[in-house]
Amino acid sequence: MTMPEAGEIFHAAHAEFAEWSPRLWRPLGEITAAVSRPQPGERVLDACCGSGASALPAARAVGADGSVDALDLAENLLVQGRREAEWRKLANLRFINGDVTTWQPPQPYDLVQCCYGVFFFPDMDAGARHLTSLLRPGGRLAVTTWLEGGMERIVPLARDAVGEVRPDLTESFDRPNSSERVNTAGKVRDWLGSLGLERITVETATYRQPLHPDDAWTLLLGAALRGLLDQLSPAELSEARRHFEGGMHSTAMSELDASSLVAVGHTAR
Ligand SMILES: C[S@@+](CC[C@H](N)C(=O)[O-])C[C@H]1O[C@@H](n2cnc3c(N)ncnc32)[C@H](O)[C@@H]1O
Repeated sequence: MTMPEAGEIFHAAHAEFAEWSPRLWRPLGEITAAVSRPQPGERVLDACCGSGASALPAARAVGADGSVDALDLAENLLVQGRREAEWRKLANLRFINGDVTTWQPPQPYDLVQCCYGVFFFPDMDAGARHLTSLLRPGGRLAVTTWLEGGMERIVPLARDAVGEVRPDLTESFDRPNSSERVNTAGKVRDWLGSLGLERITVETATYRQPLHPDDAWTLLLGAALRGLLDQLSPAELSEARRHFEGGMHSTAMSELDASSLVAVGHTAR
């Protein structure tokens, strides 16, 4: 059995994704925009925008003379983003259902930002090269990724819990993990360099949250693991949850470490 595509997974995960937004996606999106620094009047692409965590602050920053195209494949997350943009009267922000790896805008962008999205591309390098190709000369690409030793601690616990009840499923999940290629400042800097970007900076954002096992389970249901969990029967799901909570207990996991890297590189002028 193969894993569903990222867009389908996050579309199905919208309710739990929304529950974690105020504690996770929104603050980290704000941090990304604080580092990528959209300027008044700029044209911005927010690639893999989800419900707009980094697109909303970008739209605020570019103002009425600027614009933000926010693209994702998960329609249910786009719906949440559109609602929020309307409530905040951000008429310069468009939420578009589309694949960022093939997106062709009418004009180049000043800034392309992508939070926790590049590792979902079937070919991370080709996808990121495409994003870079959408920039004007001297434009910038901002990429936000998980820092090594943080978020990746919880994923193996969940994977092992699923493996206890359905070992046949975890094989499809055990594909080479692209996020490991960009999980330190040095790796993400080198990777942006390999895309031909220059004047690269990397900021580390330390971000930790207390984590109750119930919250942790909701987090898994609102993220990529959902693709695996949705393939379990209700009985298997509660069994997997029991194993997962046992794993949290035995590893004394009482906080979520969602520390992140925000890397920015520029195209040649
Ligand atoms: C972990 S979520 C992050 C969402 C948002 N950037 C945030 O930080 O809240 C990753 C998102 O990437 C989207 N995605 C993955 N591949 C994509 C693609 N090729 N085109 C558009 N969206 C994509 C998924 O649908 C999902 O919403």
